[in-house]
Amino acid sequence: MRRKMVVGNWKMHGSLVQNESLLSALKSGAAQLSHVDIAVCAPFPYLAQLQQQLSASSVKWGAQDVHQLEKGAFTGEVSAAMLADFGCTYVIVGHSERRSIYGEDSRLVAEKFSAAQQAGLIPILCVGETLQQRESGETEAVVAEQLDAVIALVGVQALRKAVVAYEPVWAIGTGKTASPDQAQSVHAFIRQRVAGHDEQVAQGLVILYGGSVKAANAPELFAKADIDGGLIGGAALVAEEFLGICRAGQ
Ligand code: G3H
Repeated sequence: MRRKMVVGNWKMHGSLVQNESLLSALKSGAAQLSHVDIAVCAPFPYLAQLQQQLSASSVKWGAQDVHQLEKGAFTGEVSAAMLADFGCTYVIVGHSERRSIYGEDSRLVAEKFSAAQQAGLIPILCVGETLQQRESGETEAVVAEQLDAVIALVGVQALRKAVVAYEPVWAIGTGKTASPDQAQSVHAFIRQRVAGHDEQVAQGLVILYGGSVKAANAPELFAKADIDGGLIGGAALVAEEFLGICRAGQ
């Protein structure tokens, strides 16, 4: 039986003052929710705040990106070992904003995934199609390419210690959620594709849905057989909304 999981991706939002009240609300809200795994991925400068404020909490935390190499002359970059050193549990890799705005391709994302695992972090691998790709019937091909690049580099067994997030790009921050059936169909496709390599890994794999998830639509999405929770953007910045989503996973 897979546990439900809800991860907040704060993206480039927050301040020490705002985070302080958000985190204290999450901490007390999460204490009532023992059947759902909850995590928050914050901008690098606020990881210290997460480390301090969440130390005695069940809420885990992590970063939103990582460099693919161990170390070197890469001004402005952060390595997986640094994140692990700091106490991160998770790191998001391959978010569609990184793929589209910063030109990260599936090979680079796979390298980041591998670097994260080598440092002992749990990567949250994002996959998903654009509206144009969906409309031209390429959804499964796009998702397969993004997933296969990781499996080709690290092997399917690596997915035992990873999370996958399906995020249709057209649903991110747009208020347009994929219908529960649309999301379920891609989640089932991802699980089947992994099962083609190893059935046990596929059954244990936590696959999150992301894209305009709110407390109001989370119950219907999370009720689907292959949707194991959510990767939450905008709604993760509002404590009651985020906790409402977490309750849907409880
Ligand atoms: O990582 C989170 C996703 O990009 C979803 O963002 O909930 O604001 O649509 P959103």
